[in-house]
Parts: sequence; C-alpha cells; structure tokens
Amino acid sequence: MINGGKPLVGQVAVSGAKNATVALIPAALLANDKCALENLPLIRDVQVLMEIIEQMGAKVRKDGTGTLEIDSSGLNHPHITNGKVKELRASYYLLGALLARFKEVSMAYPGGCDIGLRPIDQHIKGFKALGAEVEIEHGIISLKADRLVGSHIFLDVVSVGATINLMIAATMAEGTTVLENVAKEPHVVDVANFLNSMGAEVKGAGTDVIRVKGVESMHGSTYMVIPDQIEAGTYMIAAAAIPGGDVIIENVIPKHLDSIAAKLIEMGVEVQFNGDSVRVISKGRPRSVDIKTLPYPGFPTDLQQPITSLLTQAEGTSMITESIWEGRFRHVDELKRMGADIKVEGRVAVVEGIRGLSGSKVSATDLRAGAALVIAGLMARGQTEINNLFHIDRGYENLEGKLASLGADIKRIKY
Ligand code: EPU
Repeated sequence: MINGGKPLVGQVAVSGAKNATVALIPAALLANDKCALENLPLIRDVQVLMEIIEQMGAKVRKDGTGTLEIDSSGLNHPHITNGKVKELRASYYLLGALLARFKEVSMAYPGGCDIGLRPIDQHIKGFKALGAEVEIEHGIISLKADRLVGSHIFLDVVSVGATINLMIAATMAEGTTVLENVAKEPHVVDVANFLNSMGAEVKGAGTDVIRVKGVESMHGSTYMVIPDQIEAGTYMIAAAAIPGGDVIIENVIPKHLDSIAAKLIEMGVEVQFNGDSVRVISKGRPRSVDIKTLPYPGFPTDLQQPITSLLTQAEGTSMITESIWEGRFRHVDELKRMGADIKVEGRVAVVEGIRGLSGSKVSATDLRAGAALVIAGLMARGQTEINNLFHIDRGYENLEGKLASLGADIKRIKY
C-alpha cells in the first residue's frame, strides 16, 4: 500500500546481484567441496534454489549477513525431483552444473517470469555440441554424456543464460570450448570469476568470445557476488520519479550503470558518481526520451518497465522499443488504470507524458512489472494498492523497507 507524492531523500544500499547469484549457487555444485558465497540478496529465488539443492543432498548454511555456505560433497545424484525448479528460470543452470559434474542430469523444464517466449534452444544446442544427448519427455529434460568434449559453439542469439550455462558446462570438458557471440553482462563476468576461483580456466568473459579450457576437477572457494545493477537502476529511477528526490545509492559499480545514467541525464535528472555510490537528484518534471532495450552494455530490458513508469510523467512523447522480450509490456495495462497514456504496438510502446498518475488497485504481473508499479505508486496522487507481491519478492530484497527508509509512505499489508 503506497501513499504517493513523497520525494525520496536519503541513502540506500544495493544488495548482491540476483542474476549473478542464481548462477553462482548452481555453479558451486561443480566442486565436491565447500563454497562460501558472500553478499547474497535475501530474495525468494535464492531461497528456492537453496531448497532445491538441499533436497538433493547439499548442506546449506546461511548466516544473517548474506553469506551462504554450500557443501556439495554429500550431493551424489543428478536427478532433481523438486517441482520448484518450475518457479524460476535460473534453475536451468542446474542442468549445466550437474551435467559437468555427473555427466548426467534430469529435472522439470524451468519456469520464470511470463514476459514472452523463453526458449532454451541455445543452451541445448551447446550441451549437444559438448557431447550430451538431450531428451525432453513429459515436461522433464534429461541430459546424458559418456564424456564431455570441448567444442566451438556460435550462439544464434545473444543469450545471458546460454552463455553462463555453457561456460559452466564446459569447465570440466576435455579440451577447449570456444563460445562465440556471447552475452557480456556483468553477471557473465562475475560467474566466470567465480569459476576461475574454483580452479576453472575461463578467459574472455565480458567480450564476444569466451574460451574455457577444461580442467580435471574444481575445488571450493569463497566469493563475493557483485552488486545488483538492476536494483541500483530501480532506485535511481525511483529517486528521479518525484520532484525533490535526492538519493545516494551505495554499493554500486558505476560502469554497470552507464546506460541508465545516460538516459536519466538525457531526461534532465542530475546523476553524480562518487566512488562506489551514485547520487540522483530530481530536477522537476523530466523530459521525454526514446529507449531501446539491448544486451549489455545497451539499455537493460530489466529496467524497461520501471523507466516506463517515470516516462508517463515526462514532458513530451517517449518511444520505448523492447527488443529482448516480446511480452514485456504487461505492466502497461496496470499503468493505464492509474491514468497513464500509453499505446503498445508490437514491440513498441508510445508513452504520452501526462501530469500526475492517480492511485489505484493494480497487480504485479512479473518481477520488474512489480517494480514499475511501485514506482508509479510513489509518483501517484492518493493511494495505490499492489497485489501479487511474490513477483517482487523473487528479485528485490526488502523493497518496501528500503523505500520507507528514504521517506516513502509504503507498507506491506499482507505476505
Ligand atoms: N533466447 C533464445 N534461445 C535461448 C535463450 C534465449 O532464443 O536458448 C532469446 C530469448 O527469447 C530472448 C533473448 O534470447 O529474446 C535473450 O534471452 P537470455 O537468454 O539472455 O535471457 P535469460 O538468460 O533467460 C536473463 C535474466 C533476465 C533478463 C535477460 C536479459 C536471469 C535468471 N534472467 O534471462 O532477467 O531479462 O537475461 O538480460 O538471469 C529479470 O531479472 O527480471 C529477468 C527477466
């Protein structure tokens, strides 16, 4: 429940990156050993992954500071029966990790946010190239290989998931794997760094070509996950959303925020980087801008929905082109309930800036749609009630608590 119109002022710290963490946890299973992952976000997707690997025999210990210890020496079979794999997309990383460790794996087909078709053909193409046989029957995907052998794999589309999954799967293959046309997102680099800290030989992460020289075995490691660039971007947008906003967002890697900072500056918002923090100051009504989502370092699709909320208030007309997920405009109908003037035609949304949204009862349809509605609620006149918070809880740690600490009038009524 949000009572809108209060500018956000103060400091807020960003948690560890969701989309890195959900790959690091499965990657920790590569070693028959203990790993410690630090700075993990307290979010539902992490909780679900913990439950899945615990049920498989891994010992998991979590302390209150965001460190997770995973001892996977007791994990002795690669068949995942826990139906919760369908609750999140990132469960597909268990395929790559267990295939590498056991040369075999089976689990239910992964799920995730409903934002368009979410094929995994590039993952499968890569697993096959490494020597795995792949079978999908009755909703269960099974991979099996006598041996995994390094290969040259050219991805048809730039896919974060396929890049990370194939990097993981190739760590212990015989010989060298060359992955081309890969994703360059910060979490790809983060996973490569973690793998290398476990004894893998991965080079080139962050460029278009990654080389993985297979090693005999991997060992445990202690590793700290990078800050979440999307959470940081969400607070940057929220800070800009209400005139008078002035927020310092701490624990960020400025380079990762270049594209969102550039857009906010183009809109007339003040953005100042200082070490590992960024200060965002609202300068009144923002100007309209055009946005096209692209793989990193382009504008991230995961911030398209939150920034759409801000653009509903901008002076002028903005054109938003979503080039990654064809179904990522489901927040638009909810924003319209609040008075927004948005037309969607295929992958393009045209937003006519208006003066003032009005509070309404709306529903989060997916994770970033939820964040978009929270931002809209912060901007709106009167009260906004947002339902289906479980989507938000999948990827934001204590969103309402952090916003309340910045002066927002927001509270959770029901869990
Ligand atoms: N694609 C294929 N075939 C594949 C894989 C992907 O055609 O085998 C296509 C997709 O349909 C999409 C494009 O390639 O059009 C990019 O998909 P990608 O594989 O990069 O997405 P993903 O790995 O499934 C991750 C994040 C998403 C984020 C995208 C893009 C995780 C768990 N999820 O998904 O995060 O939107 O990369 O950056 O890392 C979110 O956090 O809200 C979220 C949805």
